[in-house]
Amino acid sequence: MRRKLAAGNWKMNGSTASLAQVAELMAANPAPSVDILICPPATLIGQMATACLGTSVAVGGQDCHAKTSGAHTGDISAAQLMDAGASHVIVGHSERRTDHAETDATVRAKAEAGIAAGLTVVICIGETLSERESGKTLDVVARQLAGSIPDSATGETAVIAYEPVWAIGTGKVPTLDQIAEVHAAIRAALVARFATDGARMRILYGGSVKPDNAAAIFGVPDVDGALVGGASLKSADFSPIIAALSNA
Ligand code: PGA
Repeated sequence: MRRKLAAGNWKMNGSTASLAQVAELMAANPAPSVDILICPPATLIGQMATACLGTSVAVGGQDCHAKTSGAHTGDISAAQLMDAGASHVIVGHSERRTDHAETDATVRAKAEAGIAAGLTVVICIGETLSERESGKTLDVVARQLAGSIPDSATGETAVIAYEPVWAIGTGKVPTLDQIAEVHAAIRAALVARFATDGARMRILYGGSVKPDNAAAIFGVPDVDGALVGGASLKSADFSPIIAALSNA
C-alpha cells in the first residue's frame, strides 16, 4: 500500500556537468515501479526540474526556510523551491541539525512551511553514536519524531527518513535487526499519532546505503525505501539501488 521511494541527496556536490548523471539514470530506469527523487544543490534545481519534466524522476530541495519570504539572506523558501520546479524538500538532515544548530522545533516549522507550500517533506531523524551506545536510540527517535513532524503531515505530504548519524558517510551500517527495531518503533509512533495517515507515511532508511547492501536493507519490514547520499551521485551506483528497491 506504500509506494517505495528511492531518494538521492547530493548534498553540496555536483555542477551542471552532473546533470548528465540524471539523464543516464532516466535512460537506465525508463518505467520504474518505485518513486525516484533527487535532491541536488539549490543551484541545480531549476535545470534538473526542467530536464526531468514529464519523467518519473522528481526533484527536491535539501532545506527550506520556515518563512514564506523576507529578509533572510542566503535562505530559500518552500514556495521558491516549488517555483523552481521542486516537488519535495528534505528537512532536518543531521548535517543541518549539526552545521546550523537546527532543533526539532526548527525542523517542524520548516516541514510545516514545506507542506503549506505544496511540497512533500522528507523529515530526517536519527541518533548519534554516543546515544546509540548509551541505549538511548528509541528515546531519541521518539523525541525527534514528536518534535519534528507537524500536525499537518499526512501519508502523502510527509516521508520520514531514519538516518543514524554514525552511519552517514561512514560506510558503517546498523544490523538489519537494529534497522528493523527502529523502523517498527517509528511506525508504531506514526500510527499512534496519525492513525491511517501514520500507516501510509513512508519510512526511508539512510546511512551508507550502497549497491551491495541495498537489497538486504530493503528486505527489512517497514523500510519503504532509502535516502542515499554518496551512492546517489553516480547513476552507475544509484541505478542498482533503484533496481534492488524495485525487486524488494
Ligand atoms: P550517505 O548519506 O548515503 O552518504 O551515508 C546519507 C544521507 O546523509 O542522506
